[in-house]
Amino acid sequence: MTTRPAAVVVLAAGEGTRMKSSTPKVLHELAGRSLVGHAVAAVQELEPDHLTVVIGHGRDQVAAHLGQTPGVATVVQEQQLGTGHAVQVALGALPDLDGVVVVTYGDVPLLTGATLHELVDAHTADANAVTVLTADVADPTGYGRILRDDEGAVRGIVEHKDASAEVRAITEINSGIYAFDAAVLRSALGQLTTDNSQGELYLTDVLGIARSEGRRVGAFVTDDPWQTEGVNDRVQLATMTRELNRRVTERWMRAGVTMVDPATTWIDATVTLEQDVVLRPGVQLHGSTHVGAGAEVGPDSTLRDVTVGADASVVRSHLVGAEVAASASVGPFSYLRPGAVIDERAKAGAFVEIKASSVGEGAKVPHLSYVGDATIGAGVNIGAGTIVANYDGVAKHHTTVGRHTFVGSDSVLVAPVELADGSYVAAGSTVTAGTEPGELAVARARQRNVDGWVARRRAGTATAEAAHAAQQRAGDDHVEGESV
Ligand code: UD1
Ligand code: CA
Repeated sequence: MTTRPAAVVVLAAGEGTRMKSSTPKVLHELAGRSLVGHAVAAVQELEPDHLTVVIGHGRDQVAAHLGQTPGVATVVQEQQLGTGHAVQVALGALPDLDGVVVVTYGDVPLLTGATLHELVDAHTADANAVTVLTADVADPTGYGRILRDDEGAVRGIVEHKDASAEVRAITEINSGIYAFDAAVLRSALGQLTTDNSQGELYLTDVLGIARSEGRRVGAFVTDDPWQTEGVNDRVQLATMTRELNRRVTERWMRAGVTMVDPATTWIDATVTLEQDVVLRPGVQLHGSTHVGAGAEVGPDSTLRDVTVGADASVVRSHLVGAEVAASASVGPFSYLRPGAVIDERAKAGAFVEIKASSVGEGAKVPHLSYVGDATIGAGVNIGAGTIVANYDGVAKHHTTVGRHTFVGSDSVLVAPVELADGSYVAAGSTVTAGTEPGELAVARARQRNVDGWVARRRAGTATAEAAHAAQQRAGDDHVEGESV
């Protein structure tokens, strides 16, 4: 069991100028969470007594964003005087701590709770005062370098800007993620100076100070450098987004999900899938979306906050806040909006838009329809081109279509209206009054045919010619018929 830290401090006060954005850097999103949201999700796995995020640039937006996360406190660092200063500010806002303090960054989205567990486990197993998470990387430019003595023990960290050519040749880098003994950290932070090339209070100096006081300083080397990588610009954001998606898709494939093309399948970290789900190319699953066992989604479908039941199918469609029950079928080209519920074995077909409506068990809305604010009973058939006119220009009204009722094609159901169970609507009706069980509603003008109109009003056209030829043939047939 990993020792539960007394506190975790997430540093997120920096400006992030290279994002070139009016949105604070740590609020940029990947895989359905903000950068700082990923940081918080990872450190929460340590179940710390306190979780403090140090904010500065864009503080109002970041604080508002984090305000929705229970158990997270924010503290403002007015001026960004360095990582050491940021941790000083955080500790200043916390009660006296005893035990382990973990420090991470708000812009390192691939760091996992599992790696943090390993870091803290190594820290306690080695009885260290400080343990730094490090990685060996091909290009260490810009990072702090890990200095080790002849026995391999960590001596300290030198920032790239302060490093000699010899030190710059070191490829083991400081991730900026650490486990500290709270008392050692507090004491060393009090001894920091700005005597360095950037004139900042460096958190990295805590290691050298602790070591010079005879404390044990160690490193936990990760073999997964992605987990130490920060996001500083939008190119890195895209790179990290793809890598995170690669990891998320791989995890689900290992859990029994088929993906025809994981490279074009985008799954938020917050999505859950069951065994034998099949995802076809070009699928995006967002937010709280859940897909049940054996269901198929795609190709080319986007689902946000959608529940898909077992063995259901969603093809080339866009769904937001909808519920698709077991064995139901959606698409191709359906648009399901918030509150759309497609019940078991029901169908929403091609060019169908459904909002705040339930489509009952086995009911069908197969073609070219709009259904809004309606309750469609089990076994109903909504004919092609049916529109539920739910909006009178001022308010929305409800429509009910009773069980096994049949609505003919190209009908308009003008809400509020209630069609009883087992009734019929004739094709092309504009329905403004409800039905009783067993009734047929016909609400359209009766057809009238005007004899000879084409010959009189469209003489000389191909249509007139066709009419004439057909009349001749009919005449001939008639004569032949008579002769038999
Ligand atoms: C820091 C480390 C470096 C390490 C690197 C890893 C120091 C002195 N250097 O360098 O050894 O290799 O991270 O990415 O610690 N921040 C604040 N307040 C501040 C300064 C920074 O909250 O006053 C936050 C930033 O928002 C950011 C993090 O701390 O999330 C790191 O700051 P940054 O300026 O990027 O540090 P580096 O120079 O990259
Ligand atoms: Ca950085």
